[in-house]
Amino acid sequence: MQTIQKILLEFEPKVENLLPALKKTSATFGYVSEEDAQKIAGYFSIPQSKVFETASFYDLVKTKKQPQILIQVCSSANCAVNNSFEIIREIENSFKIKAEEISCLGKCGEGPIMIVNGKIYEKVNLSKLRDILEEYL
Ligand code: FES
Repeated sequence: MQTIQKILLEFEPKVENLLPALKKTSATFGYVSEEDAQKIAGYFSIPQSKVFETASFYDLVKTKKQPQILIQVCSSANCAVNNSFEIIREIENSFKIKAEEISCLGKCGEGPIMIVNGKIYEKVNLSKLRDILEEYL
């Protein structure tokens, strides 16, 4: 099992290795917790505020636990004609979440169809998308 100590041992305790260590920590645990930030600060002999300052500067390093969310968007013909790919792009660009493309659900007249954590949303457009996802984020 991966631990913060094992991750830190992969890096020499030089300040130029702080960012790679933060990226690895975030990628491994989903975010850099307060407790891990404290250990990272100790390892690199820097203040904890410097750890969070560096982490918050980079999108790839998360400092808060990310919500568990599964977004699926129908990308079959009828939903695609109704801009399902625009919805997928917006989810990825604005919300930094990878949406899963799924095949026709037989609700083509109600498309584009999006499913969030098992709940089905119909006729999704960009403004509706924002309202829907705010419930989950
Ligand atoms: S094409 Fe999307 S539900 Fe049929």
